Amino acid sequence: MSYSVRVFPNREALAQSFAAMLIKDLDRIEPDHYYTVALSGGSTPEFIFKYISDNYADRISWEKMLVFWGDERCVGPDDSESNYRMAYESLLQNVPIPDANVLRIMGEDDPEAEARQYAELVSSMVPFFNGTPQFDLMLLGLGDDGHTASVFPDRPDLFATTRLFDVAVHPGTGRKRITATGRLINNSSKIYYIVTGSGKASIVSEILEKKAGSERYPASWINPGSGQLLWMLDSESASLLKK
Ligand code: 6PG
Repeated sequence: MSYSVRVFPNREALAQSFAAMLIKDLDRIEPDHYYTVALSGGSTPEFIFKYISDNYADRISWEKMLVFWGDERCVGPDDSESNYRMAYESLLQNVPIPDANVLRIMGEDDPEAEARQYAELVSSMVPFFNGTPQFDLMLLGLGDDGHTASVFPDRPDLFATTRLFDVAVHPGTGRKRITATGRLINNSSKIYYIVTGSGKASIVSEILEKKAGSERYPASWINPGSGQLLWMLDSESASLLKK
């Protein structure tokens, strides 16, 4: 797994760097092409979305972006658990992105059917590379149990399947989720892990320093082949990494 790590003094500096990357990438998009992004849920992504909404709303070429999700809880778009609702409230409703450019996972629909339908939607809108849709950017968070997107430690099969999206179950709540699979995630052109807070320091250290037992964490299964993997950390989540 080749990756790079950038440590920022705080979440704000991390968000500024993330926004600058978006602006730079969007400036490079050829006319009549789109920049395809798969968003993540979680409180860390939510902070980034809010920061971008407050500080960069009119500085990013939103009309060039197609927004998808890497995972969604199997709830309606108005549910407090919805990753779409979180992104809409913290970012999408505050920026001039055309409604047609926002392609949410229909968490309210039958999970198996929606996993298939969303895979077809992504396949119809995201250009292929190596026989698989290739997102320009896959945004990932890191769960305390090492899950990423909604791939939990009990589901290594989600990194072996040829499916693009599948149905997972949160081991704690029993809530069904729809998640991108390893095939789709690892085919991304860029994967950005955004991890902040002292609560993640231990698992970040385990994964990035490949400590014994870390292979059980789905986040350690992320390896984008020819793509770029960047871990964006704040000083707290990076605090246990060897200097
Ligand atoms: C989800 C997310 C999940 C999240 C991590 C990190 O739907 O729960 O996709 O993978 O990114 O759990 O969440 P925090 O940033 O809140 O720790």
